[in-house]
Amino acid sequence: MCGIVGYIGRREAYPIVLKGLKRLEYRGYDSAGIALYDGKDLNMCKTKGKVADLETLFNKNTSTSGTLGIGHTRWATHGVPNDVNSHPHYSNSGNLVIIHNGIIENYDSLKKELIKRGYTFQSDTDTEVLINLIEDVMTNEKVKLGKAVQIALNQVVGAYAIAVFDKTRPNEIVVAKLGSPLAIGIGDGEFFVASDASPFIEFTDNAIYLEDEEMAILRLDKDIKIRKIADDSLVNPYIQKLQLNLEQIEKGGFDHFMLKEIYEQPLAIKDTYRGRLLVDDAIIKMVGVEDNMKRFLNADRIIIVACGTSWHAGLVAEYIFEDLARIPVEVEYASEFRYRNPVITEKDVVIAISQSGETADTLAAIKLAKSKGAFVFGVCNVVGSTIARETHAGAYTHAGPEIGVASTKAFTTQITILTLIALRLARANGTMSSSDYRRQLQELELIPEKVAEALKADKHIQAIAETYKDSRNMLYLGRGYNFPVALEGALKLKEISYIHAEGYPAAEMKHGPIALIDENMPVIVIATKKGHYEKVVSNIQEIKARKGKIIGIVTQGDVSVRELADHVIEVPETLENLSPLLTTIPLQLLSYHIAVLLGKNVDQPRNLAKSVTVE
Ligand code: F6R
Repeated sequence: MCGIVGYIGRREAYPIVLKGLKRLEYRGYDSAGIALYDGKDLNMCKTKGKVADLETLFNKNTSTSGTLGIGHTRWATHGVPNDVNSHPHYSNSGNLVIIHNGIIENYDSLKKELIKRGYTFQSDTDTEVLINLIEDVMTNEKVKLGKAVQIALNQVVGAYAIAVFDKTRPNEIVVAKLGSPLAIGIGDGEFFVASDASPFIEFTDNAIYLEDEEMAILRLDKDIKIRKIADDSLVNPYIQKLQLNLEQIEKGGFDHFMLKEIYEQPLAIKDTYRGRLLVDDAIIKMVGVEDNMKRFLNADRIIIVACGTSWHAGLVAEYIFEDLARIPVEVEYASEFRYRNPVITEKDVVIAISQSGETADTLAAIKLAKSKGAFVFGVCNVVGSTIARETHAGAYTHAGPEIGVASTKAFTTQITILTLIALRLARANGTMSSSDYRRQLQELELIPEKVAEALKADKHIQAIAETYKDSRNMLYLGRGYNFPVALEGALKLKEISYIHAEGYPAAEMKHGPIALIDENMPVIVIATKKGHYEKVVSNIQEIKARKGKIIGIVTQGDVSVRELADHVIEVPETLENLSPLLTTIPLQLLSYHIAVLLGKNVDQPRNLAKSVTVE
């Protein structure tokens, strides 16, 4: 959580840092701040609120001059979001300035020590403790900034991506990373720093992603030097060519990133299976799976670890792997798994699913599984992310940047990848006949155009949203493959409209939730033709008998549900195991339209952040 941006070079830093913060605002948007150094003065402005509020404030009060600058957009951990707790923070002397994404866990004991030594604090943040600790080291040990950062970080427990400068030596920025992401853009006589590469994409496509426990000194007119924080050893910089382009990170005519990303799904799914799904040859080619086939085939079970929407994709995968490949699967919230002393053996395969590739709990679950000898396979969207690097092997979803905080295309592309893996294993372990296999591949190839077809219901869904936007609660029901879709539909609505919603397996309704149903309760029921259709129709009758309002997600041409429901939304027919890729679409659109009609901030819902890098 939190986004950091920095620049040192010959251009004006302010527009670069400001624009960078806007691109990173998905990571946190409680407060924002920028510090610039113009060779004489430190120009700093910070405020509770969004980057746009910061911009207004800068325009009113503060000089924007300076070719050295750092900026921060915050998702609060220590200290409420207010002006004082916003970053950047400076040291007691006023010389050192820092931005920080992460948490210093032992900040309290460090702070007490520093207070004893005469330091005072303006804010409640752990970051202000860190910058004063660095200053204390500089003063006592008589070392320069880089060395002081290194010594200080060796005393710190926690996670960080930091950028620090010393205004008395304004030719360098020192950066360091542990647990939170940090990318360095290398330009011609200039450096960029950011939580991901999006802030500097129009300036350079040469980037270095720092590894954990590494630091770098970005000095004007010098080559970059990367060192291990623990032992000061030099690391060879690995410069990557970025694949990202500007168009991918802009709204492209849509009102919100979320809507753009919902509409991108046909292409995103195609990009996910491109080069992997070879229908004519009846082959699935995935290097990460092929290279580790023995581990997969000898596994006693697959354990899936993930959080939030990615966990829902994991639940869909449980149905897919067990049904198609007959491999036992357990799906775990990474946050529970990491702390509950789970039984893990060398014969387990762990699949970690994460859009951002930075989720702290998922990362911790991976480390735990690795320490017990399990083989860990990552399914990530962000290329080069920490989880992608921390796992033994993996497959990227290639969905393109997901900027809307509510996950949409990440979910469907994760299901696509997991389907490909399950099908490949089903073929390899002989649980699927070649004709069924061929049929699966053919049908999967058709999914993008069927998603495009499902998107055509958008206007109709908007009208339904108008009818139900003032509801206080909503219930989402599904069975089998579509039970996790019901959970995901409810999560989407909660996240962006703040309407309370619950997802349930349809048959569980009579064991409790049915008590909630009356004429004010909209119930969204996924009732596609394949998959317990008759049973779901019976559940719909039970809702109708209690006067609940029914919105049915049905297969094109459906008759029975149409007779019972208040509204139906059609999706094209497909195989049962592929149906979540289609039934999810109307649920995403319904939440989107309700949130827009209620005037909510769809792309940046309150209290949330795109990547949760704290536990
Ligand atoms: C929901 C959402 C979150 C994330 C969760 C995991 O719309 O975005 O629930 O799915 O925080 O994030 P990743 O997939 O990045 O690990």
